[in-house]
Amino acid sequence: MLRDKSGRVIESLRVSVTDRCNLRCRYCMPPEGVEFIEHDEILRYEEMDRIIRVAVHLGVYKVRLTGGEPLVRKGLIDFARRLGQLEGIRKLSLTTNGILLSQYAASLKEAGVDYLNISLDTLNREKFRQITRFDRLNTVLDGIRTAKAVGFSLIKVNVVSMRGFNDKELFDFVDFADTHNIVVRFIEYMPFSGNAWQHDTFLASQELKTRLQTRYTLIPLDDDPSAPARIYKIPGKLGYIGFISSVSESFCHLCNRLRLTADGHLRPCLHGSIEIDVKHPLRRGASDAELAELFREAVDRKPAFHQDFLDNHFHSPACDREMVRIGG
Ligand code: GTP
Ligand code: 5AD
Ligand code: SF4
Repeated sequence: MLRDKSGRVIESLRVSVTDRCNLRCRYCMPPEGVEFIEHDEILRYEEMDRIIRVAVHLGVYKVRLTGGEPLVRKGLIDFARRLGQLEGIRKLSLTTNGILLSQYAASLKEAGVDYLNISLDTLNREKFRQITRFDRLNTVLDGIRTAKAVGFSLIKVNVVSMRGFNDKELFDFVDFADTHNIVVRFIEYMPFSGNAWQHDTFLASQELKTRLQTRYTLIPLDDDPSAPARIYKIPGKLGYIGFISSVSESFCHLCNRLRLTADGHLRPCLHGSIEIDVKHPLRRGASDAELAELFREAVDRKPAFHQDFLDNHFHSPACDREMVRIGG
């Protein structure tokens, strides 16, 4: 079992399979995009398999595939299928921007992916183009419909809330959750290297919640406390509404996650710059026991909370990676 100094038990690994993406969301990367990590520096699927097996041996039973955009990497479906068959993984999920979902949703389902989270920050075509820099809203909407049709039942849509951008769409998203019977989660905009975060675009979950409560009753669900979102049911409406308040109410004390970056580093925390290189030891022939030691090191170095982020008024100067290279 992987237990850290604060008593948190690590059960979940977020695996970023690529730093590439077919969108360029403004809150995720700088306008010019990021320089891609060289091909040789990206973990091969067999290398990820090996690292994930070690993690599972140590008690990890949830794996989430992220990117960049995970579906742009060739071979993802076969990789997901191998993970789906790996004894010990009880929950296999994928976070995607939805662009390639119409094409891949059925194969993902058949490969054994249990849950899909889909990023969609606006229901307005022009705003979608502004935020992602691509005119592809309808592609994502088709992707969501396809995912529902092939049997993904509990789809979560991630909406990064931005004042002055999508705050007027709060009630539209409630209707969207109802129409598609899905979970819509509003995420507080987090500052990352190169993502143009500003205080005046930040919008706290509480403000959205208060606005929703002027019209609806929100019934809190008794959900998984280690999950970052607090989820609510609106009586009379299908679907659910959730809030991820990473900035205003950090949930570090409940965090049960480690991250594996596409270039083979374990990140004990989303924020900050602590990383443990597993790729080079692996390529030099490290044994499973040695890889397990690296996991233990990552857990030992997992900060109790992201102090530097708080000390710097929500700026994360020590964070040397753009969000697109972390995977959320
Ligand atoms: P489930 O709860 O399993 O559905 O997944 P998730 O919400 O953890 O995953 P997803 O990839 O959909 O991420 C949603 C948002 O939560 C993103 O903005 C992530 O950056 C944020 N998030 C996920 N894990 C953490 C974390 O450990 N710390 C912080 N601060 N934010 C996180
Ligand atoms: N703040 C909050 N959430 C973000 N995401 C990407 N960048 C940010 C940010 N700066 C979200 C995406 C995706 C998830 C993995 O992380 O919308 O759904
Ligand atoms: Fe791509 Fe997701 Fe980042 Fe948007 S948030 S640029 S879709 S990785």
